[in-house]
Amino acid sequence: MKGIILAGGSGTRLHPLTLAVSKQLMPVYDKPMIYYPLATLLSAGIQEILIVTTAYDLPLFRKLLGNGSQLGCHFEFAVQDEPNGLAEAFLIGEAFIGNDKVALILGDNIFYGSGLAKLLQANNDPDGGIIYGYHVQDPQRYGVVEFNDRGEAISIEEKPKHPKSNFAVPGIYFYDNEVIEIARHIRPSQRGELEITDVNKAYLQKNKLKVSILDRGTAWLDTGTFSSLMQASQFVEVIEERQGLKIGAIEEVAYSMGYITKTQLHKLARPLLKSGYGAYLMRLN
Ligand code: DAU
Repeated sequence: MKGIILAGGSGTRLHPLTLAVSKQLMPVYDKPMIYYPLATLLSAGIQEILIVTTAYDLPLFRKLLGNGSQLGCHFEFAVQDEPNGLAEAFLIGEAFIGNDKVALILGDNIFYGSGLAKLLQANNDPDGGIIYGYHVQDPQRYGVVEFNDRGEAISIEEKPKHPKSNFAVPGIYFYDNEVIEIARHIRPSQRGELEITDVNKAYLQKNKLKVSILDRGTAWLDTGTFSSLMQASQFVEVIEERQGLKIGAIEEVAYSMGYITKTQLHKLARPLLKSGYGAYLMRLN
């Protein structure tokens, strides 16, 4: 299965922070934001990843992440000219996806929880689409999924004024190869975007959408405002300081998934020793 990280957009909700630097390169405590969704994809067993961003930001992401070989992976980069919507990722990534299945993750979505990697690994070969539902206080800010009494998804709406449930759809999605064809046929919404919600609705209509609940033991963090960005940093700091274990350390995930050897891990750690990050990697068994 291939993976796409969508790391474009204009970042206007974080201006002036993001006037000169991409939102997904902002720090979340001790790492650039994109490390977290990248670590999530790596932990799901996905090693071939396309990073979609703006022409302006692409060289910075390439500098940060390289071609992925240092992590035992393969990274490619592509440009989204305008923020035309999340579903455009499948059109931009068409050649990269080829005949494979594909996972899409938003470059500003942070997930953390025990059992999450196993859940994602179990979902990484979908027949149709697999998305998630997560209980939130403010569902009107998200895609919202409604369930019937049997727990089956019956509707999905994008940012509804009157949400039919408290279950938001987080920014990680698994699809079979048909997603390219579906993305080709959807039309821009009222806000002028190719909506991922319309992709999900198409799968729902075909009876080929599975919606799994991410339970309250999983943290899905928002980084969309100054305050939620700060809270995400504080969350990561609190857990890391308490446990002495890192969240979203891509080198650690690559090592624990067996993508790289200990020798390769140490090579990655050495230039990072001064910040303490490298020392952490060196300590891993
Ligand atoms: O966070 C989950 C939500 O993401 C879902 O619940 C919604 O269904 C989905 O539509 C999306 O909500 P937003 O519309 O609020 O997403 P936003 O515009 O903030 O974009 C999400 C990220 O994707 C952001 O980091 C910027 C990036 N992006 C966005 C667009 C529209 C792109 O790279 N390209 C784009 O064209």
